[in-house]
Amino acid sequence: MCNMTDWRGSALRTYGVGILGSGVISRTYIADIQKFYKALDIRAVADIDWRLARTLADEFGIPKAYVTGELLQDPDIEIVINLTPPQFHVELDKQILGAGKHLFSEKPFAPTLAEAAQVLAYAREKGCMVGGAPDTFLCSGLQSMRWYLDAGIIGTPFFVTANMTTFGVETWHPNPAAFYRQGAGPIMDMAPYYLSAIVALLGPIETLAAFSAQPSQIRRVYAGPRAGSGIPVELPTHYSAIARLRSGVVVNLNVSFDIYGSNLPMFEIYGDGGTLTYPDPNFGGGTPRVYRKEQYTDTAYRNDPEAEARKRRFYELPELMPRVKDYSRGLGVLDLAAAIDAGVPNRSGPEFLLHITEALEGLQLSAKTGSFYTMTTTCERTRPIAPGGYPETI
Ligand SMILES: NC(=O)c1ccc[n+]([C@@H]2O[C@H](COP(=O)([O-])OP(=O)(O)OC[C@H]3O[C@@H](n4cnc5c(N)ncnc54)[C@H](O)[C@@H]3O)[C@@H](O)[C@H]2O)c1
Repeated sequence: MCNMTDWRGSALRTYGVGILGSGVISRTYIADIQKFYKALDIRAVADIDWRLARTLADEFGIPKAYVTGELLQDPDIEIVINLTPPQFHVELDKQILGAGKHLFSEKPFAPTLAEAAQVLAYAREKGCMVGGAPDTFLCSGLQSMRWYLDAGIIGTPFFVTANMTTFGVETWHPNPAAFYRQGAGPIMDMAPYYLSAIVALLGPIETLAAFSAQPSQIRRVYAGPRAGSGIPVELPTHYSAIARLRSGVVVNLNVSFDIYGSNLPMFEIYGDGGTLTYPDPNFGGGTPRVYRKEQYTDTAYRNDPEAEARKRRFYELPELMPRVKDYSRGLGVLDLAAAIDAGVPNRSGPEFLLHITEALEGLQLSAKTGSFYTMTTTCERTRPIAPGGYPETI
């Protein structure tokens, strides 16, 4: 763990930041940005419902509470973080860019590749930079995985399994209905974390395919003001997918809002020299663990307790850069600000967003048509963050 105050020793100039959407995740963004990222000065929050913005502003001591249009007209705001529900991202992103603000959008960036391309073309026209969630692949755990992989700790990778198995959001989210409408579901809500981790670590996707299932038509709400009511389900809530990366690595991905208990690993990469495992790409902080082939082969003919224990054990690997927090948001916004400062592309920028959006659309198309989907976009692995370094200094 780092000394948290170090994170505020920023070398960047200060950016005026506005939050659009004053719901659940806005609180994580604001708390983390205020605590860790000095360069990002949150000067205003907004919502379609002004009272929600007012409450949020009071909670975090933010000077201004707005409705959407007012935020976009405020000359003090340079970067807007769009934290509205998925169905509003494209329309609001265009308004943000139209107002000449740099944009960081929550996931999913857009429902289709065509819409993502439109938003990004508009950003170019307006001279604005764009970043998007998930930014968890920038955090210490997954960045450390990147260095260990590149150092050959498991030899040549050939297979990844990623499994997001939950029973949906209606047990904890106060507004769960949006998660079961077109444009959301586990594929748009959760697959982005796993796909962006895979692409950031192992490179772009070439071909993919998926099957989907929708075990229930109505979901029961268990928490919040709507507890006891039912939500109609408009889309599949389980996807099982396969993919092949440009590198030849084969991927198996399951994302589900229908699984109540599971022993599937959340994220494991297999190479010809061993296995790397990671607790959950939805979380930035997490300790990678390794199992090396020699643990088995060196003791293959021994069955004494020490050899047997070694055959089973995964070894923890140190994280190579400071861990901000286990569950954290805002690093992608810092990376965007650092890129604006340095005049370089940001890590979760256009190429990456287009590729992940196409993969999400391709998985849904494949599940509908029963055909393989061949990707038309590609991207390079994002620049790694140097061991020991803070993202803003790289
Ligand atoms: N909740 C989480 O744990 C979580 C985690 C990571 C990412 N996200 C993503 O963040 C986004 C928001 O999720 P949430 O859970 O905070 O949702 P939420 O429903 O709690 O909050 C969304 C807010 O946006 C406001 N809003 C709706 N339409 C608007 C408009 N046109 N203009 C301005 N404000 C508008 C709503 O009034 C609401 O306050 C989603 O894209 C989601 O995928 C959520």
